[in-house]
Amino acid sequence: MSIYKLLCFILLFASGFLHAQPEEYREIKQIVEQKCLSCHRTNGYAPFGLEKKDDWLKRKKFISYVIQQNIMPPWKADEHYRSFSNSKALNKHEKELLLKWLEADMPGMNVQLIQPTIFAQGSQVLRKPDLIVRMPKPFTVPGNNKNTYICYKIPYEIDQDTFVSGIEFIPGNKAVVHHASYQIIAVAPDVNMYGGPDYFVYDADTLNRVRDDHDYAYFNLIGEGNQMPIELYHNGWLPGTSAQVYPEKMGFYLPKKGVILIRNFHYSPTPVAQQDQSSFYLYFASSVPDRKIGFAAFKPKNPTPDGQWLIHANDSQFKSHINVRFHNDVSLLAINPHMHQLGKNFLAYAVTPAQDTIKLIHIPEWDHNWQEFYRFRTLIKISAGSVLHAEAEYDNSSKNPENPFSPPKDILFEWGMNEESEMMRLVLLYLPYANGDETVSLE
Ligand code: HEC
Repeated sequence: MSIYKLLCFILLFASGFLHAQPEEYREIKQIVEQKCLSCHRTNGYAPFGLEKKDDWLKRKKFISYVIQQNIMPPWKADEHYRSFSNSKALNKHEKELLLKWLEADMPGMNVQLIQPTIFAQGSQVLRKPDLIVRMPKPFTVPGNNKNTYICYKIPYEIDQDTFVSGIEFIPGNKAVVHHASYQIIAVAPDVNMYGGPDYFVYDADTLNRVRDDHDYAYFNLIGEGNQMPIELYHNGWLPGTSAQVYPEKMGFYLPKKGVILIRNFHYSPTPVAQQDQSSFYLYFASSVPDRKIGFAAFKPKNPTPDGQWLIHANDSQFKSHINVRFHNDVSLLAINPHMHQLGKNFLAYAVTPAQDTIKLIHIPEWDHNWQEFYRFRTLIKISAGSVLHAEAEYDNSSKNPENPFSPPKDILFEWGMNEESEMMRLVLLYLPYANGDETVSLE
């Protein structure tokens, strides 16, 4: 290349990045804010912030690599099958733009990308929570290198009844918190929520056979006249799960006195004892929601064809299915597929009575480290008589790098929750259908 050409090239390059920049930078800023900063900011969920230019300069090569390899942002759903409103995936254009920008040392970026606002610790929501409900005491996870499963009761009291339009689970100790499924319950006025124990530890083998009434009695949550608690909301958190924030008019009722019961709180194995004190952040609704969010979890009916409840060692193509018929018209808000380390891929769709297929989700390469409540772009109507189909495939061979056992061994399927077990769940957040739901945006 002649000096002249080189000069032109440099000038073009430089002008492209250093001058005619503001628009391109605005777009980049928006991408970064939407797809990185929800986790990568001071006090955020990720281990480091990406708010400052210096944060990018320091990790320039590494960031390029994780973007190119689709490692970051973490997003496992196939966007061609169905795209979601909380998608963190970068499309081709966004990827190219970011990589080019990185290559040129982040032109347009001043010292700070976003204004340094004080966000609540670990939160992904750009708003101060209205209520923080924290485990009253830290729980000590034993250093025995085994999974620990507990059920934990957190009572709360506020000045008056209200409504909630968003909720976030904030793991206290990210090194050990594996997942949490929780319910918010109202208790009878005469119940002393603070009486009885704070928690119990599950025997991992019996975890799938928990009984509400036993647990409520154990925690002293049943009223004098045998009044059972009422479930108001139910949801879960897994690594990668976004905050659950609902549009106007959707949410759930929160009485001034109630309990968040973490029904299934799973801690990963650790060689040394660790403490955890996790929290919930609640965001109150500005108006009274008239749509109450429902939660449904489905599991396979006939877990294994041979009735042995096992995924045999070296079986790399084990399949499981869920088929459910809907009896009412419902509107789907979000979908959450769940498997453990042997998971390979997951597909879910509904077939209407007119034999139309409604694509719901496809996860081509399952990664148990990143699970999500995938929120649809608009409410999805599933009419009565439709059948929901889900298909999951598992790899229990040594080709699966996530296989917890080497050499592989027989793994229990849908039987208990210990480290030697696998499962298949399809969780839906839904509303009873109302006219016009098909056009209600969830963006
Ligand atoms: C849903 C939350 C989330 C989003 C969104 C996200 N990250 Fe991350 N990121 C994480 C977490 C958590 C880790 C730590 C991963 C670990 O320890 O395995 C991480 C790690 C990283 C790493 C280090 C890689 C490694 O293997 O340790 C880089 C670099 C990175 N992220 C860049 C980005 C960029 C750039 C974006 C946006 C384009 C982004 N991330 C979006 C949560 C997120």
